[in-house]
Amino acid sequence: MTMNQNPPVYTGDIVKQDIDPSREYTAENQEIVFNDEQHAIWADLFAGIHQPYLLEHLCREYINGLAMLQLDPKRIPTVKHLNVQIQTRTGWRIERTAVRYTLADDWYAKFAQRIFLITDYLRTRDQMEFTPEPDMFHDIFGHLPFLTQDFYAKIEDKFAPAYMKATEEEREVIKHLAWYSTEFGLVMENNRIKVFGAGIISGRSELTHTIMEFYRLGRDNVIDYSRDVFAQLQSHFLANKKDIHRIIAGVNEMHRQGKMSSEEQGWNVVRALYDKLGIPRTGIFGGDVILVPFDVETIALIPKTVYAFNPMFFVCETLEQMDSLLDSYLKPIASRK
Ligand SMILES: [Fe+2]
Repeated sequence: MTMNQNPPVYTGDIVKQDIDPSREYTAENQEIVFNDEQHAIWADLFAGIHQPYLLEHLCREYINGLAMLQLDPKRIPTVKHLNVQIQTRTGWRIERTAVRYTLADDWYAKFAQRIFLITDYLRTRDQMEFTPEPDMFHDIFGHLPFLTQDFYAKIEDKFAPAYMKATEEEREVIKHLAWYSTEFGLVMENNRIKVFGAGIISGRSELTHTIMEFYRLGRDNVIDYSRDVFAQLQSHFLANKKDIHRIIAGVNEMHRQGKMSSEEQGWNVVRALYDKLGIPRTGIFGGDVILVPFDVETIALIPKTVYAFNPMFFVCETLEQMDSLLDSYLKPIASRK
């Protein structure tokens, strides 16, 4: 049985792509000439998210960074433009790659050189709301506004030194930590939950579903927004830890069986899991995604769910808290001899 005879099983582990090394970009040929339709897709993606009713839910660091990055809403930026905005501010450099989803070993080898890879792949018209594979809109619009800022560069600087010295098992945890922070993290700001992760910001479906959950928590009286919101998230987390762990075990089981995405059930297959486990769809389990405080132990247990809506998002009290929680896991590994 070879890989070619079977379609890839989307378990969240990315199937290794066959990349012709001669197709990979060099330092000299980083720029691509895009056609009008590609610029039009970019413009529609940009306009789709650049809406006041969505932007108000993004954290202030993102909004500030987006202004600094000076993206043209109508045109895909050049690598040169991105580097002018980013390299001068944080020292990180942008490099274009032909690889659609870079494997962690290659990704962190670049991170160690403070290089952030952007793919040359742009989603198609039928994926405007949701693309399972991160494309250049995700890489550029989702991540790069942050990379103009020192706090984000400092967070990204932590991963490679730990990854290089980590055991295989620890590498998995490191991937989960990156996934649930810079890709799908949430952060408190003025007692409101705001979106931080690039994976949510760059996907209209993820973003709107996440925002709908903020509203649902209030509407269903799970969270009282006139009181300390983070404290309420904490107490819901503690009170429901047992069921949260049963859900995580169920997600792992589905992940192992390659059932994290399903044609019949669409992108959110986890809701059916609650019914199977007999967990009533109320309280923190009443929406599309469970919001819990950022917790390294819990994040270590829950797989990356690349081809489906994430079952759980983690909320930090502040970005400084995210920073120190990441340090608590990454620093001891990075400082090994
Ligand atoms: Fe990403």
